[in-house]
Amino acid sequence: MLKYHCLNPIAEVGLERFTENYTTAENEADADAILVRSAGMHEMEFSSQLKAIARAGAGVNNIPLDKCAEQGIVVFNTPGANANGVKELVIAGMLLAARDIVGGIHWVEENEEDGDIAKKAEKQKKQFAGTELDGKKLGVIGLGAIGVRVANVATHLGMDVYGYDPYVSVDAAWKLSRNIHHAKTVDELYKECDYITIHVPAMESTKNMIDKDALSLMKENVVVLNFSRDVLVNSEAIVDALVAGKIRGYVTDFPIPELAGVKGAIVIPHLGASTEESEDNCAKMAVDEVMDFLENGNIQHS
Ligand code: MLT
Repeated sequence: MLKYHCLNPIAEVGLERFTENYTTAENEADADAILVRSAGMHEMEFSSQLKAIARAGAGVNNIPLDKCAEQGIVVFNTPGANANGVKELVIAGMLLAARDIVGGIHWVEENEEDGDIAKKAEKQKKQFAGTELDGKKLGVIGLGAIGVRVANVATHLGMDVYGYDPYVSVDAAWKLSRNIHHAKTVDELYKECDYITIHVPAMESTKNMIDKDALSLMKENVVVLNFSRDVLVNSEAIVDALVAGKIRGYVTDFPIPELAGVKGAIVIPHLGASTEESEDNCAKMAVDEVMDFLENGNIQHS
């Protein structure tokens, strides 16, 4: 009987299908298929028994693709399966940057024992005043499953959305979202937008794409959002831009020590895909892909 091993816990709904059909391997060396979420696999040695690795997520930068190709191991991912979860957190990230919700909640926590808290709030709330998203320009870099969803919601919030994706033709992008302006170059988007969100995979060509030069083209007071991968944004450049007041905010789903205590940094511990629905969708899709491959030789999303 075929054996699988999970390097990270995956949603029950996916595991059930696996356990009904296969047995659990004691460890990865004994497995025909490995399921992984975010565990790093670059240092691992793979046995000749291993046939497939499935990532319950879109990015595959935690998997050594070259080594897998050399050893004939097929790597799967689950594009789009968690796109709604990530989209919603990006929108929440924009709102967190626009309104001082976090500051206001901390204030309430500090004052909640005060019997006069309501009156005190009326006197002090001015310090938490924010701005609205309605009427602001949002730049979406990368018009894949997440980028297009973010663009569509943002237009409903009254934002003027600019999209840029060198791999998506204007015609295709128009079909995905009729409401976005198509920036001809990424520089055009940098120059125009008040909020800029990145939705591209981590590759050699996208590493540090938001660097000192990119930041220098952006408007004063821009908010940059990165819910894709930490390596897309140069950490030194973003910290310098925040400290110098060149940009107003950096909202990211990737905690790094350099951002600790930096004003304007809003850091979330990689929760974009951490919803029941996204976890279920990713686990189901990853298990389906692996089973279809092991049993029928079909390869989807590899
Ligand atoms: C992804 O690549 O889709 C996310 O990193 C998934 C996750 O949070 O595990």
